[in-house]
Amino acid sequence: MKIDVLTIFPEFFGQVFDFGIIRRAKLAGIVEINIHDIREFAVDKHRMTDDRPFGGGDGMVMKPEPIFAAVEHLLGTSERADYPAGTKVALLSPQGHPLKQPLVKALADATEHLILICGRYEGVDERVNDVLVTDEISIGDYVLSGGEPAAVVLVDSLVRLLPDALGSETSAENDSFSNGLLDCPHYTRPAEFRGMKVPEVLLNGNHAEIEKWRHEKALEKTRKFRNDLLGENGEM
Ligand code: ADE
Repeated sequence: MKIDVLTIFPEFFGQVFDFGIIRRAKLAGIVEINIHDIREFAVDKHRMTDDRPFGGGDGMVMKPEPIFAAVEHLLGTSERADYPAGTKVALLSPQGHPLKQPLVKALADATEHLILICGRYEGVDERVNDVLVTDEISIGDYVLSGGEPAAVVLVDSLVRLLPDALGSETSAENDSFSNGLLDCPHYTRPAEFRGMKVPEVLLNGNHAEIEKWRHEKALEKTRKFRNDLLGENGEM
């Protein structure tokens, strides 16, 4: 997968994609991530990327021209209908579709080229949404100062689902949300720490019993913290 991030703060991304699974996926050629400065595509002599809102009101709005020019530079077109198959242009904004694991999975499965537009200020000129954007995505019901942290969250959640990104020793199958439940608790050595013992069932090597215990604990955690994830009868 190729990911192009459009931002007015390219330095924000520093080394954020240079650790752990994302770093390994980059080195293995599973994902390529490029950061682009929207300001480089600004046309006027002051390289402006924002302006006052028509109709008045607080704050500034991101101008359409630099964003259109950046997408055109990357895709050769600024018409959604002309995007190659597997190409998505996502705008990170609090107005977007809530980012949940099924959406991450759908994007991981069907996207070869992802362009992320990080909004700032009061928002982005709506013509960007009307013409360029295939997916408007929010990472939660709170307002960030900009789409950059949200882009990091989206890229991280996406890359770990790409084929071979996790390697053979780990898998995303038991991650929280992948089966509609939160993940179960985990323990490692020592078996006793400051008087706190690891549950006996995990030490006895009975895999059927361990699986049953893990499912029960996952259910318990989900009921306690995220009852909304469970069906009407409280069981998946
Ligand atoms: N930009 C500002 N707030 C955001 C949010 N919650 N999700 C995605 N992008 C944002």
